[in-house]
Amino acid sequence: MGAAAGAAAFALPTAYAKPLPSPTGQSPTSQVGGGRKERTESFNRADSFIDWQGAVDTDYVEALRALRLAYKLPLDMMRSLATHFKSEAVAGLAGQPSSVRMLPTFVNKRVTGAETGDFYALDLGGTNFRVLRLTLEGGGVVGPVKSMKFAIPDTAKTGTGADLFGFIADGVSRFIALECGGDARGALGFTFSFPVEQSALDAGKLIMWNKGFTASGVIGEDVVQLLQAQLASRGIALQVTALANDTVGTMETAAYKDGAAKVGLILGTGTNAAYLEKTSRVPKWQGAPCEEMVINTEWGNLQMDGYRNVFDVIIDEATSNPGVQTFEKMISGLYLGEICRTSILHPSVARGFSPAAAAQLRATFASPSSFQSSLMAAIEEDTSPTLAEVDRLLHAAGVTSCTVRDRVLLHEACACVSTRAARLSATATAALLEQAQLDQGACTVAVDGTVFECYPHFKQRMEAALDELLPAACTGHPNAPGVKLVLAKDGSGIGAAIIAALA
Ligand code: BGC
Repeated sequence: MGAAAGAAAFALPTAYAKPLPSPTGQSPTSQVGGGRKERTESFNRADSFIDWQGAVDTDYVEALRALRLAYKLPLDMMRSLATHFKSEAVAGLAGQPSSVRMLPTFVNKRVTGAETGDFYALDLGGTNFRVLRLTLEGGGVVGPVKSMKFAIPDTAKTGTGADLFGFIADGVSRFIALECGGDARGALGFTFSFPVEQSALDAGKLIMWNKGFTASGVIGEDVVQLLQAQLASRGIALQVTALANDTVGTMETAAYKDGAAKVGLILGTGTNAAYLEKTSRVPKWQGAPCEEMVINTEWGNLQMDGYRNVFDVIIDEATSNPGVQTFEKMISGLYLGEICRTSILHPSVARGFSPAAAAQLRATFASPSSFQSSLMAAIEEDTSPTLAEVDRLLHAAGVTSCTVRDRVLLHEACACVSTRAARLSATATAALLEQAQLDQGACTVAVDGTVFECYPHFKQRMEAALDELLPAACTGHPNAPGVKLVLAKDGSGIGAAIIAALA
């Protein structure tokens, strides 16, 4: 290890005059508190390796520079993106061409917490689907939840609609046999986490697939009918009485015990948001008059031209739906690992690794999806001085020749990618709160999804960015009466049962 390997100073060696950008675009020394403190530490560690074995290593410096420039998202860029989001949202609400669909959900009653009864729910999201049975006990209390989770095989995702809905109905059938004594009847809430044009609380046609689903014969069809037909053909007597997006379910799960929950986010395999809007501000609403309506924004499709870097473009072009869901492809769990993989293998970053490590990284992570978001999370979890756990993880994957500096560069790549994702998520959240005028008083933003729940520092980084964007809302301070990000665990499934109760 070089002489300066242990040094913690941020200052660049004088031999290298151009200062490196900080990942957020701010001066690192001004970053304090929450996600910013942790980011500054990792940032300083990466910089401390610039002086390597007695000399400045230009390749390493340029690799750091390439990463930080590609992923920086300073406050002025967040503000411009928020303005872009708001104008797309207004157009979407007016029924004008927009990349943000702003779909009315037919959920026009507030959940009070007093709803009671036994319900079933089915949650089809991205990686898994879950079947649940639960009792709403009133007083904001959800009784014990029975549930089963099934991984969705690629054959079901990419076969026919009958394959997919048949697979789901088979899962429901197993659940009834194993958990419900073979007999189940009553109302079922169906969480279907894809863009749907609803025509009623219990009816809606799929607009398009995403997150790697391509099952044929579903686009343009009523997904409730497709599910109901498969249930009926197996003799299952459950009645789908509510169709809900996972964001809506998440918001309603939180609202069952917290009247301030007016926004629901998913930060998981995919990303999206729903919120409570006044129908007077939804010019395209033609349905029965009502005061408020939950709107499913489908923000994952926000057009990101002008905000994407070279790696984002490469990834988008390799997906089954290039040009769409471009915001989602910069944020969500399905893509984070792939963004990182593409970045570290790109010559502009790969040059910063030692030759042996670069060669092994290239060989080990040659194929798409070989570097998962969960690996990124595990890498960022390691805060030990030599990144010993990163070393262990890399060995297990087949990368056996890496120096501590190689590990630090890899760690920095993960941090750049995930910090940008958190800041992008915060930017759209702040824009939505402003658009709905929810940034003034108390507002709970309910969040579900593995990226938010499990990715180290993601919540803190979001809060730090929200504090920059909405300083008066005090998001990062648990006791302030402002905007709060709250984990609504399993919200997407439980929420469908709550919406079924509203029906
Ligand atoms: C879908 C949304 C969903 C989100 C999170 C996106 O890909 O379009 O409907 O809410 O993923 O699951």
